Amino acid sequence: MSELPTPQVAARLAEALLSPLGDRWAHTQAVAARARELADAVPSDARELLEVAAWWHDLGYATGLVQTGMHQIDGARFLEDMGYPNRLVALVAHHSAAKCEAHERGLVCELGRWDREESAVADALWMADMTTGPRGESFEYSDRLNEITARYNADSIVGRAMTAAQPLIRGAIDRTKDRVAG
Ligand SMILES: [Fe+2]
Repeated sequence: MSELPTPQVAARLAEALLSPLGDRWAHTQAVAARARELADAVPSDARELLEVAAWWHDLGYATGLVQTGMHQIDGARFLEDMGYPNRLVALVAHHSAAKCEAHERGLVCELGRWDREESAVADALWMADMTTGPRGESFEYSDRLNEITARYNADSIVGRAMTAAQPLIRGAIDRTKDRVAG
């Protein structure tokens, strides 16, 4: 089992896999930066985990890694095959209320291979992703949701999933804001 990589190593792998995708790399860099800004929301021994998960949360979009077509699962499978720690793999698998998309895609059992962690780290990861736009813009969650439903179409798989995910994602954001403030 590989150890948790450093954020610098995670950034290099993310760049290698995602920079060919343009906007997805810009988004990823901004999510990692946002995760660093949210460090106070997580225990000090989980800050590197949060940043590594941020660098790798969207790896499943990379060319060559697509299997199921659900990027959360495809990224998690890749990281699992590479032998990375199960906690990191599960954070990637479940990020940003992935269970809603798994439901739409008939992949609930596949996603269920990994336990969903309910924690400050998971919440901060979801907030970093859901307050960062597709080209790395800083967004309020409501604007991010509008952007997603416009880009994918509200009645698409992703559009329906992200609409259903609203209470879960708002909860994660609210808890993270409270932890930062507290
Ligand atoms: Fe993302």
